[in-house]
Amino acid sequence: MNDDATTTTPSASHPSHPYVGLWVTADGRVRHELRADGRYVEARGDREAAYVGRYEVSGNHVEYRDDTGFTADGDFLDDVLHHGGMVLHRRKVVLVTGASSGIGRATAVRLAAAGHPVVLGARRTDRLDALVTEIEAAGGTALAVSLDVTDLASTRAFAAAALDRFGRIDVLVANAGVMPLSPLSSGLVDEWDRMLDVNVRGLLYSIAATLPTMLAQGTGHVVTMASIGAYEVTPTAAVYCGTKYAARAITDGLRQESPRGLRVTTVSPGVTESELASTITDETAAAAMVEYRAEAIPADAIARAVDYAVAERPDVDVNEIVVRPAAQR
Ligand SMILES: NC(=O)c1ccc[n+]([C@@H]2O[C@H](COP(=O)([O-])OP(=O)(O)OC[C@H]3O[C@@H](n4cnc5c(N)ncnc54)[C@H](OP(=O)(O)O)[C@@H]3O)[C@@H](O)[C@H]2O)c1
Repeated sequence: MNDDATTTTPSASHPSHPYVGLWVTADGRVRHELRADGRYVEARGDREAAYVGRYEVSGNHVEYRDDTGFTADGDFLDDVLHHGGMVLHRRKVVLVTGASSGIGRATAVRLAAAGHPVVLGARRTDRLDALVTEIEAAGGTALAVSLDVTDLASTRAFAAAALDRFGRIDVLVANAGVMPLSPLSSGLVDEWDRMLDVNVRGLLYSIAATLPTMLAQGTGHVVTMASIGAYEVTPTAAVYCGTKYAARAITDGLRQESPRGLRVTTVSPGVTESELASTITDETAAAAMVEYRAEAIPADAIARAVDYAVAERPDVDVNEIVVRPAAQR
């Protein structure tokens, strides 16, 4: 395998594969499926015939050969290889911070199902371990790493674990966040600090830990989870909105400073099902949230937005996406 930038570098302990995809017949039936674990599986209900394929990548040209003697070749363009009925998408190593619940969890599940190896970071590692089991049972690839984004050493160790296992960092989904809302008059300074630490410093540390690898690769994608609170301020949310305005500003600053191989996306959810409101201690804010959060969209709605931005062609940089419940005006 050529060490071209379009390939992942498999580790000895866990061979990975640079592409996932489907081989479909002319009438649209799926004949074979190239899974994330590298197996090329006959797509029939009654049996699974697994055989191993190998790619040789030279510039944009790809040659495929499997152990049945089947060969194919084609030109790799825009992260997608089309050849005959074969459509192969390049796998991307995706790091998700805050993957233990809500939007981060849903994003990890969706991107793993799309064939990307996912690296799951959060403090509640028991949940991450359970999620790895769930993703692997569905045929995906995942790695759980203990992560506190407020700790630079922990954030660097998270990125190092991803590199050690998969050899690349293609996408950072900087999603970890907290939202203990309160009016400024409450003076809950510790909670303000916590929001600044997780939502702003944690984002910066996550960028610091992954950006050097992306720049060295010449390609990468930073997806920041901001909020509709990055566009307008509401009472009890002054500090939270401040952190989300900051997240949006930092992400766009990164875009302006970066070479064209590095893409950035700010995803801004409206009310979405998750555990986010559970840390509110201020009674006024907690009471207001009951009505405000009554109509929420599933976390997978946000995951689909991330998937869309990640799957776009390398020459298309999807910079901002706002997704809110249709009921939310
Ligand atoms: N849900 C919404 O309505 C909504 C709307 C707009 C924006 N957002 C944004 O979406 C993102 C995800 O939130 P969510 O709604 O999915 O809430 P959630 O269910 O509470 O998830 C938050 C995630 O952040 C992680 N986290 C918190 N502190 C962390 C730390 N110090 N280090 C590492 N991970 C940490 C949590 O994991 P551990 O506790 O296990 O560490 C958890 O996995 C946040 O940035 C939030 O601001 C959500």
